[in-house]
Amino acid sequence: MDDIEQTKKLLKKNNQIKILKFMEKVDDTKKKKLADQILKLDFEQVNRLYKNRNAKFVNEKKIEPIKYINKNKLSSKEINEIKQIGDQVIEQGKYAVVTMAGGQGTRLGWKGPKGTFKLEKVGKYIFEILTETLLKAKEEYGKEVYWYIMTSIDNNDKTINFFEKHNYFGYPKEKVKFFKQNTLPLLDFDGNLLVDKNFEIRYASDGNGGVFQALKEDKIIEDMQVHNIQWVYVCGVDNIMANMVDDVLLGLAIKNKMPSASKSVKKAYPEEKVGIFCKKNGKPAIIEYIDMNEKMIYARDDENELLFGESNIVGHLFNIESVKELANYHFKYHCAKKKNPYIDENENEVIPNEPNSYKFEAFIFDGFEYLDDMIILRVNREDEFAPIKNATGNDSPQTAEKIYLQKYKQNIKNK
Ligand code: UD1
Repeated sequence: MDDIEQTKKLLKKNNQIKILKFMEKVDDTKKKKLADQILKLDFEQVNRLYKNRNAKFVNEKKIEPIKYINKNKLSSKEINEIKQIGDQVIEQGKYAVVTMAGGQGTRLGWKGPKGTFKLEKVGKYIFEILTETLLKAKEEYGKEVYWYIMTSIDNNDKTINFFEKHNYFGYPKEKVKFFKQNTLPLLDFDGNLLVDKNFEIRYASDGNGGVFQALKEDKIIEDMQVHNIQWVYVCGVDNIMANMVDDVLLGLAIKNKMPSASKSVKKAYPEEKVGIFCKKNGKPAIIEYIDMNEKMIYARDDENELLFGESNIVGHLFNIESVKELANYHFKYHCAKKKNPYIDENENEVIPNEPNSYKFEAFIFDGFEYLDDMIILRVNREDEFAPIKNATGNDSPQTAEKIYLQKYKQNIKNK
């Protein structure tokens, strides 16, 4: 059987009606192009994604508030002791940072990788600000940490070129490595694959939970082991106040013999679009804002504080053993309805105004259920959290710049 026949058979078997129609009527070059892609496709995965599209991540009965440590309430004696423990590891070069920069940044409306966005008032790019934070850490600990940057197929080259063009903003190039996350196919509401105007099947990044598998597949875990890295701090690209080398968080994890630790800030208002820390089935977990119901959002304790008020700022610390274990863990995929262009039966491109397809994403924190326990450290929002998600309004460049300038205006004036 030739490739075309085999492709048709596969499509039929897996109920891919739309592409099957293309295979009947488009010209041979296009048929061949589709066949090449279809024959490489993991249909078991495609079918599983569609079947589990309504997977539930929240069973309210099994969710309770979680204990956290408030950094402000630690005495200076405690802080000094904890810092010393953390400092040692950083000074010995056993600490690395992973920045997850493989997202599409659709909400920001910026065409390039999010890290290449320039904040006009601050006068710096997001990646430049993150680099400066790491350079400051070098001053403090006398060592540059290894920096691993996760990109996607779409933005990998642009990200690397950007760093090259800006000479890594003064960071030693040999300490920076890029690795790519995987993709998953987009599916329409009937489970059909989408095809774009170039007759390519449409894929999108597999979510920030793809970080562990990507670290493994791109041999970054091996690289970490070569450099004797024991602790890995994983954070998002879009928080310009991220304190990525934090001896207190690290010291607390080590002192308490925890495999992991994570940072929270107090939720600003009930509807804020942040994931919240909680205990799920007795284990630390985060419930994403899209999965919270009204009751959880507004529930308050005896002191009138939000019952679920510890917000995720995407700053997660793992020991290397946990990173290795999580690389073999099978993440469940969350499914979101999105607008994605495609070509119709007549090969005309359709740019939908309404969501028309499912996008599947793993969330990094779903891996917590695999860990025994973890530390949650509440830090000051104004010191460590200025996210850039939207073009305007909440969590936008304007709000993030305001927080940044408030904190650093002294330093900027002194420049
Ligand atoms: C994320 C958190 C949310 C938290 C909020 C704080 C997740 C799943 N959600 O929400 O709980 O309260 O930030 O600002 O962590 N990314 C990739 N590859 C992907 C998808 C995302 O690298 O495939 C990166 C993004 O570049 C970003 C981070 O992961 O740095 C989080 O992005 P996203 O998944 O969009 O979650 P948010 O809605 O921003």
